[in-house]
Amino acid sequence: MKKLRVGILFGGRSGEHEVSLLSAASLLEAIDKEKYDVVPIGITKEGHWLTASDAENLLQGKLIIEPRQLRAGDPETTQPAAVLAHGEAVVVPPEPVHRESGLVPFQTDAPLTRRASDRAINVDIIFPVLHGTFGEDGTIQGLLELADIAYVGAGVLGSAAGMDKDIMKSLFIAAGIPIVKHVTILRSAWERDSRKVQKRVESRLRYPVFVKPANLGSSVGISKAHDRKELGPAIEEAAKFDRKIVIEQSVGGKTNKAREIECSVLGNDEPVASLPGEIVPIKEFYDYHAKYLDEGSELIIPAKLNKAETKKVQELAIRCFQAVDCSGLARVDFLMDPLTRKIYLNEINTMPGFTAISMYPKLWAASGLKYVDLIDRLIEFGLERHADKKRNQYSK
Ligand SMILES: Nc1ncnc2c1ncn2[C@@H]1O[C@H](COP(=O)(O)OP(=O)(O)O)[C@@H](O)[C@H]1O
Ligand SMILES: [Mg+2]
Repeated sequence: MKKLRVGILFGGRSGEHEVSLLSAASLLEAIDKEKYDVVPIGITKEGHWLTASDAENLLQGKLIIEPRQLRAGDPETTQPAAVLAHGEAVVVPPEPVHRESGLVPFQTDAPLTRRASDRAINVDIIFPVLHGTFGEDGTIQGLLELADIAYVGAGVLGSAAGMDKDIMKSLFIAAGIPIVKHVTILRSAWERDSRKVQKRVESRLRYPVFVKPANLGSSVGISKAHDRKELGPAIEEAAKFDRKIVIEQSVGGKTNKAREIECSVLGNDEPVASLPGEIVPIKEFYDYHAKYLDEGSELIIPAKLNKAETKKVQELAIRCFQAVDCSGLARVDFLMDPLTRKIYLNEINTMPGFTAISMYPKLWAASGLKYVDLIDRLIEFGLERHADKKRNQYSK
């Protein structure tokens, strides 16, 4: 049987570029090379696409991923970093290429092509391990749809909806999923009349509140405003990153931090949920530093929840996945009031951190699905989704 050719797409223009390199490094190391031909495809921070036909040889020795290195986002010793440093240019033409094999080419930039065989890199499916802007937000998915290339994970709509904290909340409300109270404001409204915005926020919410850019990740641009004095600067900070700003009620009090529960979902039309896990951030909340730089935040797997709470988290995670029309995979994050134990859905991540020691794969491992098998399942679901879509007619 012919081996399936899998393009692993990583890097990208988002603030989570380094995190993506580490996710891809883990994936490249773990993926079953007996089963798949693997093509690494990196996107630089500037947005250039590069591949390396001899990626295997770019680095000698074994990949080392230590927790500290992961937190520091240091990609120096990873194969993906080497592809970005020494790769050859490739592009994806935004048009379907029909061949009897159903394969589609990646065409190398003519002037940079070194060998004729580099001209077209046919892949059966692309695994985008891209986090954040231009990766998790439907843009890459749109390109792959135009090119008619199968890919792992959520489609255009699910990705875009799962990226936008305002839209996702509307979908959760429509689906009857519990979330904290929130107010969405536009940057332009704030700049026009900040007093009015402040009044609106204060009429709906009590301090402390969380102020977030609607479309970002890794806690970038997010702050906790403890009082009116802190609200303005928090909005100004979020407004650097998006025209839409979400302000929401804080879960937990001064002394009792919100509990952060996460659950992994896998599948297409019949998604299943993993055991939930818990994150205990070292800081007041799980900000960028606590996520990637500071030591000491803890992952607890499985989360210390009773049976009913575990079931509720799993059920809500699946409903959330369906509410945003997700497919393939997602990590669904909750906030739990430490005193009342009430559970609120916080957000869905359609391309969660994917190193072997990230929460998404670890929750599956704890639920009985090994990382290497998880990769197989995700590829299967991506192919299934593509085949299912092929059944659609686009005109009568
Ligand atoms: N309403 C809230 N109550 C308490 N903590 C919150 C709330 N919203 C966010 N946080 C804290 O901020 C972190 C980042 O917020 P989140 O909405 O998950 O953004 P991101 O998409 O950047 O991960 C959360 O992990 C949590 O620690
Ligand atoms: Mg989060």
